[in-house]
Amino acid sequence: MAHIIGSISTSHVPAIGGALARQKQQDPYWKPFFDAYGKAREWLGRERPDVVVILHNDHGLNFFLDKMPTFAVGAADAYKNADEGWGIPPLAAARGCVDLSWHIVETLVEDEFDITTCQEALIDHSVSLPLALLWPEGKDAGEWPVEIVPVCINTVLAPYPSAARCYRLGQSLRRAIESWDDDRRVLVVASGGLSHQLDGERAGFINKPFDLQFMESMVSDPTWVTRYSNDELVELTGTQGIELLMWVAARGVLDDTPVRQHHAHYHVPISNTATGLLVLEPA
Ligand code: DHB
Ligand code: FE
Repeated sequence: MAHIIGSISTSHVPAIGGALARQKQQDPYWKPFFDAYGKAREWLGRERPDVVVILHNDHGLNFFLDKMPTFAVGAADAYKNADEGWGIPPLAAARGCVDLSWHIVETLVEDEFDITTCQEALIDHSVSLPLALLWPEGKDAGEWPVEIVPVCINTVLAPYPSAARCYRLGQSLRRAIESWDDDRRVLVVASGGLSHQLDGERAGFINKPFDLQFMESMVSDPTWVTRYSNDELVELTGTQGIELLMWVAARGVLDDTPVRQHHAHYHVPISNTATGLLVLEPA
């Protein structure tokens, strides 16, 4: 049986890629942001995951507005990072864990999630940047020390799945990982959020009190956010703040386990975005 070591939830602003490429980690604007990842990396050094199930949203690289799956699971043996027009130099391709991918696909369908299975997929900044933040040595070496299974949740074209449904997706992912006949160590990563709005009248909108309450709820009251509809969440967190659904799904994976917060960090602003980082481990 595979072992879930815990979860890391993180924002994924494309500007991080530019800062990494220009080695701005010590720049006063960026330092508080990058420093926060040190504790997460120390924890990973001790916990040594083999496989990362990464919950993320595609931003137009694989799916555009003409075809938009609600949930899509990668089942490829490699995922190339490609240029999205943000000016971020493409990072290394990630190796896929095909065996766990198919086991997840089968379990999610058994649990009545109607997913799209992708035997070919690219990865955008929502996957490459968390990898680069958590394994900077992998970024420099051009290969990551973990295999991945990307699980994509649509937060780009409404209607989006509800927070309650994303939480249940996480519960089903847990069932899949724990019934995978393999002894590898699995980390869950959520990539997205927190409050941000990139365009329109409320461009730059950030809701710090909500973000902090949401982060706190991840530890003490994980289904707290399911009281809100997606329209309410967009109102509360901005049009792109709905990316917090990835955090909700990741928390669903740890549903049955009492969790301990190993590390939390909240920082405003990076670009237009409130950035959050949360490391949870089984208590
Ligand atoms: C920004 C944030 C995002 O989550 C994203 O996907 C693209 C851009 C930003 O703040 O610039
Ligand atoms: Fe995004």
